[in-house]
Amino acid sequence: MTTDKYYRLHLMQITREQEDLLTEWCFTQGASGVAEALDFSQSLEDYSVATQSQEVFSCDVFFEQAPPADLIDELRARWPNIVCKLTSEANQDWLAEWKKGFVPFPLVPGIWVVPRWCEVPKEAEQVIWMEPGMAFGTGTHETTQLAAHLLKEALTKRPHARVLDVGTGTGILAILAKLLGAKEVIATDIDPEAVRVAQENFVLNTVEEIEVSTKELSEIHGEFDVVVANIIDGVLIVLQNGLKKKVSDEGALVLSGIIDERLQHFKERFVLPPLKLVETGREGEWHAWLLERG
Ligand SMILES: C[S@@+](CC[C@H](N)C(=O)[O-])C[C@H]1O[C@@H](n2cnc3c(N)ncnc32)[C@H](O)[C@@H]1O
Repeated sequence: MTTDKYYRLHLMQITREQEDLLTEWCFTQGASGVAEALDFSQSLEDYSVATQSQEVFSCDVFFEQAPPADLIDELRARWPNIVCKLTSEANQDWLAEWKKGFVPFPLVPGIWVVPRWCEVPKEAEQVIWMEPGMAFGTGTHETTQLAAHLLKEALTKRPHARVLDVGTGTGILAILAKLLGAKEVIATDIDPEAVRVAQENFVLNTVEEIEVSTKELSEIHGEFDVVVANIIDGVLIVLQNGLKKKVSDEGALVLSGIIDERLQHFKERFVLPPLKLVETGREGEWHAWLLERG
């Protein structure tokens, strides 16, 4: 049965020894689900996403119906160390709500991103149809917009380029490259779900010829006139040698996803030669670079 609201019991300071008994007890009280609230951290040095090992942890317990009135008293009596908070939230069709806010917009002058369920605006000269699914890259994020602008610039100087899109997400930049006249586009993403979504978007935009896979840079053949990578700055630092190797003579590299607070760190770690920095872009707290060889 779907109700107009659900209840969330947020529990903190749980010890690992209490976990099993506590979870079991929550289900006897009518809970429909228990989810650990994980803490993630990103180390400035290696940028791996690592779960902090913790002696105590937090979790959220969900109830579709109002839980028993004495739930909190009972919980405190059984486990006095656990801190708890009960809230109720309106049930919503989150996807439908989100879709309402995702409307057509120009990614670069003349080329509009149009959600699959929308009409094409009159002003659109060319269209990128978009079904984002669970992948990153609706085009609304600053990092994508910065990358799109620098990609356009790189392609203006290099018509009929061979393009490599690293971290393609929904495939938005790969499709843009095709619309801007790229002869051949190859896309990669570490996330198989992104590859699936990108493939769907390539079909939707009749650019099925774009090859997309989870291949690593070392597994991709040849050099490219334009390489674009909109990935978090730490990953760009890790991938820098592989990215630079893929840029052909007189080719260009577009880097996006450099956050303001780590710009200095990025400058210290990203070794420019044999490329040189020819343009930078900034939107809000994000930076992007256009580099060229030669
Ligand atoms: C910020 S999104 C960019 C998506 C899209 N290109 C855009 O501009 O909107 C970054 C993407 O890079 C992928 N990614 C992260 N690390 C990667 C790696 N080492 N190699 C390839 N892709 C990676 C993520 O899965 C994600 O889809």
